[in-house]
Amino acid sequence: MDGVTVINHPLVQHKLTIMRKKATSTAGFRRLLREISMLLCYEVTRDLELTMETIETPIVEMQSPVVEGKKLVFVSILRAGNGLLEGMLELVPSARVSHIGLYRDHDTLQPVEYYFKAPDDLDERLMIVVDPMLATGNSAIAAIQKLKERGANNIRFLCLLAAPEGIKNFQEAHPDVKIYTASVDSHLNEKGYIVPGLGDAGDRMYGTK
Ligand code: URA
Repeated sequence: MDGVTVINHPLVQHKLTIMRKKATSTAGFRRLLREISMLLCYEVTRDLELTMETIETPIVEMQSPVVEGKKLVFVSILRAGNGLLEGMLELVPSARVSHIGLYRDHDTLQPVEYYFKAPDDLDERLMIVVDPMLATGNSAIAAIQKLKERGANNIRFLCLLAAPEGIKNFQEAHPDVKIYTASVDSHLNEKGYIVPGLGDAGDRMYGTK
């Protein structure tokens, strides 16, 4: 699938299977999400540009590689996006963090922004937008639209599960944004849940149902 990277590392797939099981506890789900988010972060940053820096080891001076450019920005789509953040920040502790809150207006069915916080210089940074589930794609599309309106031009989207319907909508709206996911599932059901999926990601990580 063009523009979609499925992260099929055996550890990712194994952890995802346990997360899908309805018998997995809230504590277990949260721990696995933290672990899997580190592995996903590793893959989504795999091709970052490096630049050489002069350093001194205890023995000699040398040229050694470091990640080029300004600090990355991880963008969490509230609330479930926060579940992916923790592990990613453990791997990239200097990353900047942006939060975007959206709700769906009952009359217009359009996503309405209720919270937005991000660094100023978005045009100079790689943004990695995170939300565990790409279902209809509406929230991700709206969040990325907001980032683009504020200057972002180098964006990747990372999720745990994606539905084919969401990928299609997303790519129509943002063909320039690559999607990284651990699985492309079968379809969305009539309630907008991913099938087979893992249920409501926010409820499973926070124990709200
Ligand atoms: N959001 C979720 O948390 N789960 C789904 O299956 C779809 C959207």
